[in-house]
Amino acid sequence: MLKRLFKRKDIAAILEESGGSNGGLRRTLSVTNLVTLGIGAIVGTGIFVITGQAAADYAGPALTISFLISALGCLLAGLCYAEFAAMIPVSGSVYSYSYATIGELLAWFIGWDLILEYLFACSTVSVGWSGYVQNLLLGWGVALPHSITASTFDHTAEGWALTGSIINFPAMFIVAVVTAFLLGGIKQSAFANNIIVVIKVSVILLFIGFGLAHIDVGNWEPYIPENTGTFGSYGWSGVLRGAAAVFFSFLGFDAISTTAQETRNPQRDMPRGILISLIVCTVLYVAVTAVLTGIAHYTTLHVDAPIAYAIDTLGGKLSWLNPLIKLGAIAGISSVILVMMLGQSRIYYAIAKDGLLPPLFSKVNSKHGVPQNATIFAGIATGLVAGLFPLHVLSELVCIGTLMAFAIVCLSIVVLRKTQPQLKRPFKVPLVPFIPLLGAAVCILQMVSLPWNTWLRLIGWTALGFILYFGYGIRHSKLKD
Ligand code: ALA
Repeated sequence: MLKRLFKRKDIAAILEESGGSNGGLRRTLSVTNLVTLGIGAIVGTGIFVITGQAAADYAGPALTISFLISALGCLLAGLCYAEFAAMIPVSGSVYSYSYATIGELLAWFIGWDLILEYLFACSTVSVGWSGYVQNLLLGWGVALPHSITASTFDHTAEGWALTGSIINFPAMFIVAVVTAFLLGGIKQSAFANNIIVVIKVSVILLFIGFGLAHIDVGNWEPYIPENTGTFGSYGWSGVLRGAAAVFFSFLGFDAISTTAQETRNPQRDMPRGILISLIVCTVLYVAVTAVLTGIAHYTTLHVDAPIAYAIDTLGGKLSWLNPLIKLGAIAGISSVILVMMLGQSRIYYAIAKDGLLPPLFSKVNSKHGVPQNATIFAGIATGLVAGLFPLHVLSELVCIGTLMAFAIVCLSIVVLRKTQPQLKRPFKVPLVPFIPLLGAAVCILQMVSLPWNTWLRLIGWTALGFILYFGYGIRHSKLKD
């Protein structure tokens, strides 16, 4: 029994499977598509909302340093993702990598963790989208009723309660639209994503370009505000806490790896796609933060739409830019949902192909080359979660799940270099084991700093996963004893 749980999938067999018929999926993505998918998944709520709040509460203008620290952590994990994605270019991402390195039980555990990451990230961002749309409509004098714009439930210090709203309808609406798009095929989805990326990057560049002339360098003094006496409230500890807060802004680069089976030349292009999109986003984030904290004093930035607010403080000088920023944010957040939903459906597909989830999830629509049932299921699950629960409950779970996935990827690199040194590695992480171990340590440290109730929810989710595995997966696994 024990041997069964740790049985590993043969990498040669995985590659063979994805070789021939490729499971019905189509290889259409180029490196440019991968970079735009990466930027599509990464740039969203983080830069349009969290930046201002993290500058105001934790790091001040030094949030630029926080972004660099957070980016470094992601880059270490990104290098490890790149080695795996080039070596095992299949759609299951970390799930497939761990099936080949540490065995079935842990692969299921990590696959279940990835479902948590993508399901809750999509839902969080959809709720954020709903907020931005309501804000834009309000600006045009249209107020949607509370009964269809807030979550059904909320969680406060007193526990769970009904909010009086039926459901968050706009959040469910955007999930439905994105699901319909994804069903049309990866080429169509990648095309829609490309257009959105051009819009959001243009809006960000406009803000940086026009904002530069309005920077008051006095707002950058002191660059690292003095610590208030509480850990994390400015000073260097504030810079560190700021790094953990903006970690959410980098989520999504790992979703690129779930499209490896739909990439034309994954060995060459996966590492490029992952690393280039991470670097581009880091540059954009640091530049936006510098301009933002240069235009408006950091103490005033704890608002829902900090970029639009900073422009308002210029007293009409750049007011033409404000509606563009809001539309750019709404478009930008939509593409985060698109790519994360794509990732979510590919994880269901990969797990079902191995028999650990029912076979209906691995069925591919022959016309569009899309795992149709997995995509529809991802849409229904995400829509329900986004409609029923509030943003703060959803977002808490996202980071812990992602950090765990990153740590496992880093550690698996070290394991696989030892156990299967002969494998062909088109891309190699430099300085092994130093870089992967450092990457894992950075992730584990951030996990430890998260609140205890987030850990409890993670444990609850994991327990549910094990019930599913022992109730279904173990008996239906295609991996023979
Ligand atoms: N990185 C994504 C965002 O900031 C999740 O919205």
